[in-house]
Amino acid sequence: MLEKINETTEFLRAKGIIDPDAGIILGTGLGELTAKIDKRIEIDYKDIPNFPISTVEGHAGKLIYGEFGSKKVVAMKGRFHYYEGHGAEQVALPVRVLKYLGIKCLFLSNAAGGVNPSFQIGDIMVITDHINLLPNPLIGPNDERIGARFPDMGEAYDKYLVNKALIIAEENDIRIHKGVYLATSGPTFETPAEYKYFRIIGADAVGMSTTSEVIIARHMNLPCFAVSVITDLGVEGKIVYTTHESVQYEAAKTESRMTTIMSEMISSL
Ligand code: HPA
Repeated sequence: MLEKINETTEFLRAKGIIDPDAGIILGTGLGELTAKIDKRIEIDYKDIPNFPISTVEGHAGKLIYGEFGSKKVVAMKGRFHYYEGHGAEQVALPVRVLKYLGIKCLFLSNAAGGVNPSFQIGDIMVITDHINLLPNPLIGPNDERIGARFPDMGEAYDKYLVNKALIIAEENDIRIHKGVYLATSGPTFETPAEYKYFRIIGADAVGMSTTSEVIIARHMNLPCFAVSVITDLGVEGKIVYTTHESVQYEAAKTESRMTTIMSEMISSL
């Protein structure tokens, strides 16, 4: 694994991706944030050695590097999900490469179904903790040079960054929640009974991504910050027919608020 990480990292450095301050992994319908990256270098995943290829519509499959305000960022526009059939190694490699490129912090976004009855479609939730119902991506041999065999997950989401986001949201008059994100494999959306069950076991929102990447990042002690956009509700009486298109549509409507939060977070690093 380390050989592949080094090979990919060296390839990207040679392309000009030098000393990024932060990494960004964007979810469904939220890719437009990358339009704000200046002096950019864009590389298709298919041209990056060892990178898997994203197969989901709305996930472009490009690595974008450049200036975002006063900081240098490297953004993954398009991510890898368990439901696509990607194994743990394929999900892990890009996140490890971001760390080896030098990022100090990982920012993630996703689209999620709200199971907290106080949530509304279009709300933004800062993730404070997660419940990972996907197979753990660290299962298998461990390379101590990358991280510890048994990583602590007591503060998977950096508390300082969570507080910062709440302050930024308040200053910009953006309605925001804190909450627990639960990851399932998908690709089905939930049955009403599953939404109810996820609420009972402590979730505020449910989605099909993010936890694998956060586990891989925390294995390397990389601080993480993640937000969910609530694109549908898994709350009794409020469940409507959900499609990938409706999720993309609702996520796109939050784009400008998400961009405000993310850009101010990154500038404040
Ligand atoms: N469930 C799972 N994943 C999702 C949902 C949902 O309701 N909405 C957006 N991604």
